[in-house]
Amino acid sequence: MPYPKPTRRSWAEPFKIKVVEPLKTTTRQHRVEAIKEAGYNTFLLRSDDVYIDLLTDSGTNAMSDYQWAGMMLGDEAYAGSKNFYYLEANMRKYYGYKYLVPTHQGRGAEHIISQILIKQGDYIPGNMYFTTTREHQERAGGTFVDVIIDEAHDPESTYPFKGNVDLQKLEDLIKKVGARKIPYISVAATVNMAGGQPISMGNMKEIRKLTARHGIRIILDATRAVENAYFIRTREKGYEKKSIAAILKELCSYTDGATMSGKKDLLVNIGGFLAINDKDLFDEARNMVVVFEGLHTYGGLAGRDMEAMARGMEEMTKEDYVRSRIGQVEYLGQKLLDWEIPIVKPIGGHAVFLDAKKILEHIPQEKFPAQTLASEIYVDSGVRTMERGIVSAGRDSKTGENRHPKLELVRVTIPRRVYTQAHMDVTAESILEVYESRKKIRGLEMVYEPKHLRFFQARFDKA
Ligand code: F0G
Repeated sequence: MPYPKPTRRSWAEPFKIKVVEPLKTTTRQHRVEAIKEAGYNTFLLRSDDVYIDLLTDSGTNAMSDYQWAGMMLGDEAYAGSKNFYYLEANMRKYYGYKYLVPTHQGRGAEHIISQILIKQGDYIPGNMYFTTTREHQERAGGTFVDVIIDEAHDPESTYPFKGNVDLQKLEDLIKKVGARKIPYISVAATVNMAGGQPISMGNMKEIRKLTARHGIRIILDATRAVENAYFIRTREKGYEKKSIAAILKELCSYTDGATMSGKKDLLVNIGGFLAINDKDLFDEARNMVVVFEGLHTYGGLAGRDMEAMARGMEEMTKEDYVRSRIGQVEYLGQKLLDWEIPIVKPIGGHAVFLDAKKILEHIPQEKFPAQTLASEIYVDSGVRTMERGIVSAGRDSKTGENRHPKLELVRVTIPRRVYTQAHMDVTAESILEVYESRKKIRGLEMVYEPKHLRFFQARFDKA
């Protein structure tokens, strides 16, 4: 036999491509100018100047023919759209909560729940922060407290559930400030800023036990909970034979409500919701949504958007889909690991996170190594990634000082059902090219700093 047989059988995307969107290539000189004009911030690039867009997996998904067909069934009635009732039924079926308030996207739901539950001086523990989630908690007068396990802050730790809550840290906080000052714990599955790391079912059950003793609610950030369910199935004892759908529903069953950015797991381009079990809270949220989002049966969305989300719920839990989704991220991450490029381990659910602190170890955190690395990758190939380090962490809301997160990362985020394995190869090769010339790279200085969520609009110059 001339060739060795493969040692394993490959997976493939469980779909074929019906419509294509051409990609544009640019010259290096063009990209040098484009990133300068964008203040070395990949958020400020025009998408027209980008080749492979791995900025985010948010709203960048490819919808299926089934979802597109559903768009034609949009019932655009101001009140009582039939798409809302379908979305509500599917939310109950797949997530298991009682009540649904649609919102234009995840942060709409975060705004509402924060305003309803948080009082001035409250504390909101969470398994690492997320930018918009913490911003809304602080705007409502709360203080976010990180209670994630220490392993989550260590890119080298291969602990399988780096999203877990450290129960001791949670208990210490309850002792220190008192349960009455903790309206809820905010639990994300998976944890975006930790590198797309999952929380285990065992940990969630323990959080439920502890919070139940103190009368503290659990609000789940369910944005990527399907991807979390997949990791539970592959890594947690007792779940090997359970379906993704069953695991997702069990995970939610230990919580009191959820905020959701539909732009991720739900395979759509826009949408979100707040789900809640408590009738009084639901009534309050439903009252508030009409002020900030839209009537309670559309919450800032068109009927067709709600239809696409409802149909996305049916597709997101399909086994072959989730397998290929996570498999693609794993494929890219494994390539980088094979070349010994430092990334966060284990490889996450929605993205590969480059360890910029290690890669650009000669650039101090004050000179923004991750921001620098993202702009260098863009110049090399037109691949767009994003900073997740000191710029994203922002300033402490009380002292005004820069926060110095342990993780200084570049997120290489994979949209769902959009790119092929060949795009992953090209991306990995560009990262390798930049990695090999890392010693020549200089840092950046910030020349414009917006007040809120600065990473979106901050501008930089070469230091
Ligand atoms: N929670 C998590 C874990 C998220 O990743 C996001 C958004 C949100 C909440 C807010 O949802 O964008 O619909 O308002 N993450 C995007 C990202 C922006 O690129 O990671 P949204």
